[in-house]
Amino acid sequence: MEWELKVDSDRVEKIRAVRRRLAADGPPRVRSDGDFERVSIPSSDGDALRDLLLAERPSTVIEIGLAYGSSALAVAEALVAFGSGQARHLIIDAYQNRFYGSGWSAIVEAGITGLCLLFEERSQIVLPRLLSDGFLADAAFVDGSHIFHNVFVDLFYIRELVRPGGLVILDDCNYPSVATAVRYFEVNTGWQPEPMPAATRLRAFRLPNPRTEPNFESFKPF
Ligand SMILES: C[S@@+](CC[C@H](N)C(=O)[O-])C[C@H]1O[C@@H](n2cnc3c(N)ncnc32)[C@H](O)[C@@H]1O
Repeated sequence: MEWELKVDSDRVEKIRAVRRRLAADGPPRVRSDGDFERVSIPSSDGDALRDLLLAERPSTVIEIGLAYGSSALAVAEALVAFGSGQARHLIIDAYQNRFYGSGWSAIVEAGITGLCLLFEERSQIVLPRLLSDGFLADAAFVDGSHIFHNVFVDLFYIRELVRPGGLVILDDCNYPSVATAVRYFEVNTGWQPEPMPAATRLRAFRLPNPRTEPNFESFKPF
């Protein structure tokens, strides 16, 4: 048992080291100047994401939007620190090639390829497939396409893929496209804003348990 705990803390420390290095030096190659800082969640938001998930004690997390890997490493840190032997981290990123594979390289460097599974397709195509396969997650982090209809479709499927009572976390709710999509689920399907463990630009929502299906006649404009 002690040996197992030591192995886990070594794994956590390795992920932390890669997170620190990525935050300090950035990826080896970027699409353009300032792109890493523009698309990645800042390191403190990564800590908030990790802490939120740690409190959740999840085994399975779906993440949309890998880019250079900053948020994926924070999610993985929580999954490995919690130490469930069954942990799974499903990552969806249609355009990882545009980031020169940097996000996946960070995962390789952190030694967590056994934990993470990457789908290089549009999330709007992958999520319904996961649903029809009967997949169920404890939590999701949504930071993929920010186009309204794509976010709405992502959240439609995430609502069914995350277990009742689970957590949905989003970046960039300051964009009207993202905020409007999530507002539908808050106003019409009972998603409750979850208090954040620290000051962060991320927002989180607790799904109702049991899941409720709204009556179309009680639809509230959002
Ligand atoms: C803002 S970046 C994600 C940043 C990342 N979460 C982080 O903090 O390090 C958005 C990502 O979503 C991906 N993406 C955009 N549209 C997508 C879609 N329709 N399906 C899947 N991934 C998509 C992009 O390739 C990009 O990697």
